[in-house]
Amino acid sequence: MRISIGCDHGAVELKDAVKKVLDEFENVEVHDVGTFGSDAVDYPDIAEKVCAEITSGNSERGILMCGTGIGISIAANKFHGIRCALCHDVFSAKMSREHNNANVLAMGGRVIGFGPAAEIVRAWITTDFSNDERHLRRISKIRGEA
Ligand code: RB5
Repeated sequence: MRISIGCDHGAVELKDAVKKVLDEFENVEVHDVGTFGSDAVDYPDIAEKVCAEITSGNSERGILMCGTGIGISIAANKFHGIRCALCHDVFSAKMSREHNNANVLAMGGRVIGFGPAAEIVRAWITTDFSNDERHLRRISKIRGEA
């Protein structure tokens, strides 16, 4: 599974920590779109880069981070086909996969510590979509197809 990952200046250290977690998974290939330093960048630009990788089919999933995770998740969800879930707990991360088939996870570098973030990432990577008919129907409605 190819995962595109990106952050603004508010979450560079969290991105580095998340990359270490992703390294635990042999089947995960990480594609890092940046940013890599402390210079301020605009989170919508990072969201666009990661989401373009997903909507083009280059990556299956994405992980986006900014200071709170709020701005970058809002920006991601404006792209058709992107279902970005802002999660700061493991239960939400699992539900975002099982029920919402979230293809992007968002977190806030100024909100969550590396330990809880690692657990969230592990749960999000390893949880499959339920494929349940009612969840498929609801996702179709999000896509404007039902
Ligand atoms: C940048 O200072 C900050 O606004 C951004 O990282 C994020 O928290 C926005 O939602």
